[in-house]
This record gives sequence, structure tokens and C-alpha cells, in this order.
Amino acid sequence: MQKNIGSKLALYPMPLLVIGTMVDGKVNWLLAGHSGIIGHDKVMVSLVKTHYTNKGIKDTKTLSINIVSEEMLKKADYVGSVSGGKQDKSDVFEYRIGEAGAPIINDAPVVMECIVEDNYETDNFDNFIMSIANTYVQEENLDEKGKIDYTKFSPVLFEFPNYTYLRTGDTIGNCLRLDKE
Ligand SMILES: Cc1cc2nc3c(=O)[nH]c(=O)nc-3n(C[C@H](O)[C@H](O)[C@H](O)COP(=O)(O)O)c2cc1C
Repeated sequence: MQKNIGSKLALYPMPLLVIGTMVDGKVNWLLAGHSGIIGHDKVMVSLVKTHYTNKGIKDTKTLSINIVSEEMLKKADYVGSVSGGKQDKSDVFEYRIGEAGAPIINDAPVVMECIVEDNYETDNFDNFIMSIANTYVQEENLDEKGKIDYTKFSPVLFEFPNYTYLRTGDTIGNCLRLDKE
């Protein structure tokens, strides 16, 4: 029997992301759990307006979305604990600058380099809507057809209600082929 627990944010688990941008010419990293997909060509990140990162995103219109692997989790957790306005976080990850100008974490399994197209502002949040300029993938995470194979690394998942990180599970089926399996 289900119990109605009221109006709750319950759309979890979500992929955990490190957002990279340049703030006043210096790299800054932020940890984000709240993201989305819009249509088949846009993505969204929902960031508290007062974060240091937001200034860089608004100025440069460019950011990277770095999918967090278990190997990166400790550093990712750290960049989610302190603001770049108080602490220089630029050297937490080894990085290079991507073709569109955003900092890219060298060891991240998958990185999307994005261009901001719009900001759907809500009370305390900038909800940046972005096109994807480039996608950088560790070659060992590509299958023989050149597609990202998400079973070859462990993207970390996040859930807000208990504020925990979860491990990605096994493949349990192929979409639209379950009746034939
Ligand atoms: C697990 C986790 C998930 C987070 N998700 C978000 C998020 O989706 N949006 C957001 O604005 N802040 C989120 N934060 C908080 C920011 O990462 C944190 O406040 C960070 O220090 C802001 O950095 P900045 O001020 O250098 O931009 C999250 C923090 C943690 C630990």
C-alpha cells in the first residue's frame, strides 16, 4: 500500500556532476545533483543563484558537465563543500581547456562542453539551459561502434532526501526488446 507523504522532490537517483567554468579568468568547480535533459539536444543544470560558479557561467556562457566516477568522488564531494569565493578550487582536478573554452577534467569518464542558450530563473535558482558543443569520452569507455558504454565505468548517483551517493547497478535489459529476451 502506498502512503502519500505530500509534495516531495522524489525524482532520484540522479547522476552526480562536477560543473566547471571560468570565473574572472580562473577555473572553478561545483558539485551538482540537479540536472535535466530537454528534448534531444539540450541539457539543464539548476544552480543556487548565490554560488560563485553562476557568475562565471553568466560571463562566459560556457561550462563543462563532468560525469563523476567513483574514483573522482572524494574530490567531487570536496568541491561541493566549499565556495570558490572563499577557497581557490582550481587545482582540485587536473584539467585542460576544451575547444569551446570550458575547463575539462582530464580523468572524468565523460564530459559535455556546453554553451548556455537560456536561463529559466526561479526564486533562488538559475536554471541554465544549454546546447552541447563537444563531448569528450575516455576511449576505453567507447564500444566498437563509438558509442558511450556506461557499463565500462561507474557513474555515481545522488539522492537528496538522505543526501547520499549510490553506486550504479547492472544492465537488466535492452530497451524495447524485453519480450524477446
Ligand atoms: C551532493 C551535492 C549535490 C549538490 N547539488 C547541487 C545542485 O544541484 N545545485 C546547486 O546549486 N548546488 C549543489 N550543491 C552545492 C554546491 O556544490 C556547493 O554549494 C558549492 O560549494 C558551490 O560552489 P561555488 O560557490 O564555488 O560555485 C551540491 C552539493 C553536494 C554536496
